[in-house]
Amino acid sequence: MTVQQIESNTQRTVLVTGAQGVSGSAVLKRYAALPGTTVYGVSRRPTEADGNVRHISVDLLNRDDVKAKLGHLQETTHVFFGAYIDKQNAAEKSEVNVRILKNLVDALAEAPLLRHITIFQGGKAYGSDLGPYKTPAREDDPRLMAPNYYYDQEDLLRNRQKGSKWNFTVLRPGGAICGSSLGSPLNLIAVVGVYATICREMGLPLRFPGPEKTYRAMYQVTSADLLARATVWAGETTAAQNQIFNVTNGDTLRWQHMWPRIAKMFGMDIADPVPFSLTTYMADKGPMWDAIVKRENLQPVQYEQIVAWGYGDFAFRQDFDNVSSTIKVRQAGFHDCIDSETMFSEIFGKLREMRILPRIPHSSSPTAPDRGPGSLDPQRKVS
Ligand SMILES: NC(=O)c1ccc[n+]([C@@H]2O[C@H](COP(=O)([O-])OP(=O)(O)OC[C@H]3O[C@@H](n4cnc5c(N)ncnc54)[C@H](OP(=O)(O)O)[C@@H]3O)[C@@H](O)[C@H]2O)c1
Repeated sequence: MTVQQIESNTQRTVLVTGAQGVSGSAVLKRYAALPGTTVYGVSRRPTEADGNVRHISVDLLNRDDVKAKLGHLQETTHVFFGAYIDKQNAAEKSEVNVRILKNLVDALAEAPLLRHITIFQGGKAYGSDLGPYKTPAREDDPRLMAPNYYYDQEDLLRNRQKGSKWNFTVLRPGGAICGSSLGSPLNLIAVVGVYATICREMGLPLRFPGPEKTYRAMYQVTSADLLARATVWAGETTAAQNQIFNVTNGDTLRWQHMWPRIAKMFGMDIADPVPFSLTTYMADKGPMWDAIVKRENLQPVQYEQIVAWGYGDFAFRQDFDNVSSTIKVRQAGFHDCIDSETMFSEIFGKLREMRILPRIPHSSSPTAPDRGPGSLDPQRKVS
């Protein structure tokens, strides 16, 4: 079956945790657009019901809360687990992230119609947070030293799946997940979009804020929408049962080539990379952001909630190749891909439409003379 046939042929009731996060919001939107599909979105923050999506406010750390609010959803066929709690200490991070998954599995594992659970891992399964690692990374590469919450969540699912009627799939996005969700600061798009907007406001070029080595290293990014399609595919595909798959946009980039293209999307020039801490240097820019929000009539999202600068510092300090092989997922039948430049351009465009980022006036950038018609067209290719 093709991905399109899979998407339209099945009746489902889907429970999406992390429903307002960068991954969960894309998965929720994808499922909500499919025929015959009822969607429950779960997070602590309340939000309005929307079409066939019902939101349930639950603290997944609170076992009783999970049982009371989710235990009765026995018609659930699919679970996407996109909830995530950040902790600095690896053991602590594993403990809380396994606990939230376990509380949910305890509440729903016996649901008679449950067919599939999907979780996301990422480059940290290969040690991308520790230093240079073997590339391209493959799903069968040996594990690293514990604790690692990815492995612990996966082991929980492997154990609980034995003898049950449901299966699970682990998807490993490459590099950063890029989406247009609001209120999900762990999104590289928000880091770059807000950083560019503030540099522009200050009349600065778009300087890459990491070391030269990062600028020149190979990197991959993964569209949240593409991951959402992979999630739907995995939920209905025999070859995906109890498997791990790397998923990326399908191309590989170096920031040195992508950065000038991103600068064009903001009507800006670039300057040579200088490593500096976004966490430190962007800390005092809240009032400037608030003034931009007011002047440009943007959605009133708090500066602290729109972007996590530490996430940018993490991504832009990885001064080694970040590349994973996607042969396995393609051979199993998932072939979707997107050009990463197109993805950046489309998401920045969407954030402008959503009034999260300001529109770029059709005039020259503050740091450069007029580049001529079309220079601000995000689709325009640079030579
Ligand atoms: N972001 C990336 O670039 C990236 C890259 C590779 C892999 N990953 C992996 O992808 C997975 C999903 O991450 P993400 O980036 O999509 O996360 P995210 O955007 O930070 O979203 C996580 C969501 O979890 C919810 N949550 C946190 N604590 C909760 C609790 N106690 N009860 C219920 N909900 C809770 C939060 O919503 P509320 O605050 O409303 O509860 C939040 O929206 C993670 O395992 C992550 O490691 C992410």
